[in-house]
Amino acid sequence: MKQMMILLGLVCISGVSLPAWAEDHGDMAGMMHQHMMQTEASDKRTSLHLPAHMKQQQLTMMREHLAAVNDIIADIAEGKFDAASRTAHQKLGLTPEMQQMCNMFDNDEFRNMGLTFHKRGDALGDALKTKNVRRSLDALHTTINSCVQCHATFRQ
Ligand code: HEC
Repeated sequence: MKQMMILLGLVCISGVSLPAWAEDHGDMAGMMHQHMMQTEASDKRTSLHLPAHMKQQQLTMMREHLAAVNDIIADIAEGKFDAASRTAHQKLGLTPEMQQMCNMFDNDEFRNMGLTFHKRGDALGDALKTKNVRRSLDALHTTINSCVQCHATFRQ
C-alpha cells in the first residue's frame, strides 16, 4: 500500500494523470512495430530478396563459415597448419558445392563478392601450407575482409 502511494505521488508530481499514463503504455505493440519499421528503413544495405526457402540455408552456410574461421584460428595458435589449411580449402575455398551455392544468387555483385571470398579462402589454404604465421594471418585478414565487405553491402 505504501508503495502504491509513492507511485501515485510520483505520477502526480510528474504531472501525468493515471489514465494518460495507462494509455501511453497500452500501445506498446504499436510502438514496437513502428520501431521495427524505422530500423528496416534505416538499413541501407541492398536486399537480396531471398525467397523463404533460401534464407535458412544461407544462414546455416554462414554459421559454418564462422565456425571454420574459429577452427582455423585455434589451429594456428596450436601450430596445426596442415589441419588449418584443410579447413580453409574445404570449408572456405571454391569447392564445387560453394560454386553451386554462389550461382543460385541472381545479384551479380553479390555472386562476384562470394566467388572472390572463396578464392581468398583457397589462397588462405595455400598460405597456411607455408606454416608461416605472419603470411597466414595476412591471408586470414584478407579473407575476413570479404565477410566484412559483403555484410556491409547486402542483407537477406
Ligand atoms: C558474398 C556475401 C557474403 C560473404 C562473403 C559472407 N557473408 Fe555472412 N552473410 C551474408 C548475408 C547477406 C547475411 C544475412 C545478413 C542479413 O540479412 O542481415 C549473412 C549473415 C551472416 C551471419 C549470421 C548468421 C545467422 O544465423 O544469423 C554470420 C554469422 C555470417 N554471415 C558470417 C560470415 C563469415 C564469418 C564470413 C566470412 C568468413 C561471411 N559471413 C561471408 C553475406 C555474406
